[in-house]
Amino acid sequence: METLRHVVVFIHLIGFALLFGAWAVEAYTRRFGVTPLQHIGLTIAAVAGLALAAPWGISYELNYAKIGTKLVILLIIGALLGIGQGRQRKTGSVPPAVFWLIGILTAVNAAIAVIWR
Ligand code: HEM
Repeated sequence: METLRHVVVFIHLIGFALLFGAWAVEAYTRRFGVTPLQHIGLTIAAVAGLALAAPWGISYELNYAKIGTKLVILLIIGALLGIGQGRQRKTGSVPPAVFWLIGILTAVNAAIAVIWR
């Protein structure tokens, strides 16, 4: 059970890597867009995160304030991806505030995951 939980954490991290990595590529190449890989990363992180939000395979208490905060931030990132994709389709570009918030909030969620105990 414990090993299975570690595998789900690993999948959760793959989702995070895809979401943040795809965003970082857009920033580095100065395209500043929203891509399907970001949506895939978000979905993987969300599904694995929700599975981890249940107390199985652990002998300690989960921090539900932390998990709830991460869930709210993830929903905001999802909304921003949707808004960004819509604007990209209509106008050809994503508003800068939307683009930068996606990356910043993803990094904030990772920071919350590792720093808030
Ligand atoms: C963009 C969104 C997210 C990012 C970047 C993210 C990032 C991370 C990272 C880096 C870890 C590993 C931390 C560690 O093991 O010390 C982690 C663990 C975890 N995440 Fe997330 N996460 C996100 C969304 C979520 C969501 C939406 C939930 C639940 C609703 C969630 C629940 C958890 C739980 C419960 C763990 C701990 C696993 C364990 O130790 O058993 N995460 N997350």
